[in-house]
Amino acid sequence: MLSAEENQLLTHVTGDAPMGQMMRRYWVPACLSEEVAEPDCTPVRTTILGERLVVFRDTNGTLAVVDERCPHRLASLALGRNEEGGLRCIYHGWKFNTAGACVDMPTEPGAFGFRDRMKLTSYPTHEAGGMVWTYMGPAADMPTFPEYDWMKLPRNQYAVIKSASPSTTRKRSKARSTHRTRGSSIRASSGIGRSAPKRRWTPRRKWKPRTPTTVSAMPPSACRCRIPTPSATSA
Ligand code: FES
Repeated sequence: MLSAEENQLLTHVTGDAPMGQMMRRYWVPACLSEEVAEPDCTPVRTTILGERLVVFRDTNGTLAVVDERCPHRLASLALGRNEEGGLRCIYHGWKFNTAGACVDMPTEPGAFGFRDRMKLTSYPTHEAGGMVWTYMGPAADMPTFPEYDWMKLPRNQYAVIKSASPSTTRKRSKARSTHRTRGSSIRASSGIGRSAPKRRWTPRRKWKPRTPTTVSAMPPSACRCRIPTPSATSA
């Protein structure tokens, strides 16, 4: 049986975890091609090795896998507008191209050059076998994309299926129905057909109107402001 340390070594992939660093030396699937089939389609949110990312296809058909959080105020770019050659944040309108460069910043005058210093994390992509793949490791160690034999088959001779992991499912179902469930499909995560958790009934407190307090009704001794009261000024 594995010790707790060995288990952690083999299963933790976020941050600098050794397993995560090893996985970052390979091309990994990001989403299905059909999810981003059209140029200017709706961006797809995904999490890979603990990193929150967004996949989108721009107007020219170029694919991108970028950080989900906008570098300005961390708004989610999964809610952004994919239009005219880039993904525009819906909060203040900063726009990023597939390489992660900021190409429009309506809130800052162009003369400041602030726009040129803004960069969104962007990973290389490759489309094959009905999937969008990405490489998240150091550029110097990037391997050539492995063209597996099955990827060369006609598209109607293989199937690609995407399923939610149990941990993702548990988190989603917890957020929606506040009780833990185990499941292996997205539908199971919706909580449909599951009974709500039992709660103890507690009577509501009776609402009482508050007594209005105005400054003029307040006695001078109760006032905490530093303006001298008339009595103190006259003394
Ligand atoms: S948060 Fe994205 S532009 Fe401000």
